[in-house]
Amino acid sequence: MATAVVPRVFKNYINGEWLESASGRAFENRNPADNDELVGMFPSSTAEDVDAAVDAAAEAFKSWRLVPAPKRAEILYRAAETLVRRKEDLAQDMTREMGKPLAETRGDVQEAIDMTYYMAGEGRRLFGQTTPSELRNKFAMTVRQPLGVCAMITPWNFPMAIPSWKIMPALICGNTVVIKPAQDTPLSTYSLAHILTEAGLPRGVVNVVNGSGPEVGASLIHRQGVSAVSFTGSTEVGRLVNEACAPTFKPCHLEMGGKNILIIMDDANLELAVEGAVWAGFGTTGQRCTAASRVAVHHKVYHQFVEKFVARAKSLRVGNGLDAETEMGPCINEAQLQKVMEYVEIGRNEGAHLAAGGHHLTAGAWSRGWFHEPTVFTGCTPQMRIAQEEIFGPVVAVMPVENFDQAVEVANGVVYGLSASIYTRDVNRAFQAMRDLHTGIVYVNAPTIGAEVHLPFGGTKQTGNGHREAGSAAIEFYSEWKTLYLDYSDRLQRAQMES
Ligand code: UN1
Repeated sequence: MATAVVPRVFKNYINGEWLESASGRAFENRNPADNDELVGMFPSSTAEDVDAAVDAAAEAFKSWRLVPAPKRAEILYRAAETLVRRKEDLAQDMTREMGKPLAETRGDVQEAIDMTYYMAGEGRRLFGQTTPSELRNKFAMTVRQPLGVCAMITPWNFPMAIPSWKIMPALICGNTVVIKPAQDTPLSTYSLAHILTEAGLPRGVVNVVNGSGPEVGASLIHRQGVSAVSFTGSTEVGRLVNEACAPTFKPCHLEMGGKNILIIMDDANLELAVEGAVWAGFGTTGQRCTAASRVAVHHKVYHQFVEKFVARAKSLRVGNGLDAETEMGPCINEAQLQKVMEYVEIGRNEGAHLAAGGHHLTAGAWSRGWFHEPTVFTGCTPQMRIAQEEIFGPVVAVMPVENFDQAVEVANGVVYGLSASIYTRDVNRAFQAMRDLHTGIVYVNAPTIGAEVHLPFGGTKQTGNGHREAGSAAIEFYSEWKTLYLDYSDRLQRAQMES
């Protein structure tokens, strides 16, 4: 308890004011590495709070859309500078609420900094097109228009990075925001809203409503006055979001599950591949959409790889992320830990060989958190559930493959398509993999994680719904085209009918 912060009571942020929920109820935000530590209390909001937030965002939209984008950008620059100054504190807070080691939470804040600067830069771009008209004395061009109020539902695994991926492009395009952060990690979004306000964001432009998915999330996506929705989370919930948006054709961006693969060919730098597999499999306790939860290894190097990988998995130091020695933190909560344990059972029952880990860690300080051993199953086959379903925990399924073609077939043989990676020194194989792996992201000689903010992020098949976030793709989602024709001929010109 030496590191415990004083428990604080946090509020919603609506129309520039910090408000309690109309419900008067609150939920706890506890440290997943140490359940004795109460990070804070957050409002359990209701549809009424959502109504107030959406109304505030709709009102603020009227003036925010008219603020020149380079001026909106100045606010984002100032916010980015504050994020830089406060990076260490924000990382410490995030480790307390989310559990991942400090090195990773610093990276998470850094990703928010990168995105904020990147989108600030977009304030002086937001390019459209000018193009010739087919008619004389007529001018044609396109401009980007904001959508209106954007609703955002964000996950707990990247508590500041992912909210920033959504908020910053939405703001630079001239939209206003209502965000519901994950209940496990509301503090990081609270801090982000604070920093944006300090940077000069007008009231009502960003609103934060805390609470559960069924109550707050559902009200938000159904609420009239919301123009677009961006959701990152499970495929099951993503489907509900998609259905809720369908009747009114509300644009919705969905970023969902993954079952990402690392392919290791017989000519790979094996040490590098092992390092990559450890980082992609157990970084963030495997709780990344981009985590490599499958490894397909060429049969010629299979045993060598397994030996090294299993040894590394067994040696990982699991503990409180605030401890500098810790390499892997806890699962986010009890339900997630249970899910991991269930999948370990499933893996055993379907005949995979448990080569490392497999247990809930309960000794000593571990007993106060949701810790699980880094777990490796070997001898897996591609159709096993542990090789098909997203576990979102520290469990990796390793399987041998005969050759490159089989590796690609295995890679593509799942319902998801976020990220994939190949380790090879053969340039031809690398290019074939880049062409044939049916995922939104492909890495060569690098693990499945490590996306950068200025490139599109997202996946194929049931990982997404065709949209991407980050990079210029985010601008595409948070704006829509308006086509402008200006006729200066002073006569009626008829398109397609003039000779
Ligand atoms: C996620 O997995 O949910 O590429 C986001 C990465 C990070 C972002 C991951 N930059 O792993």
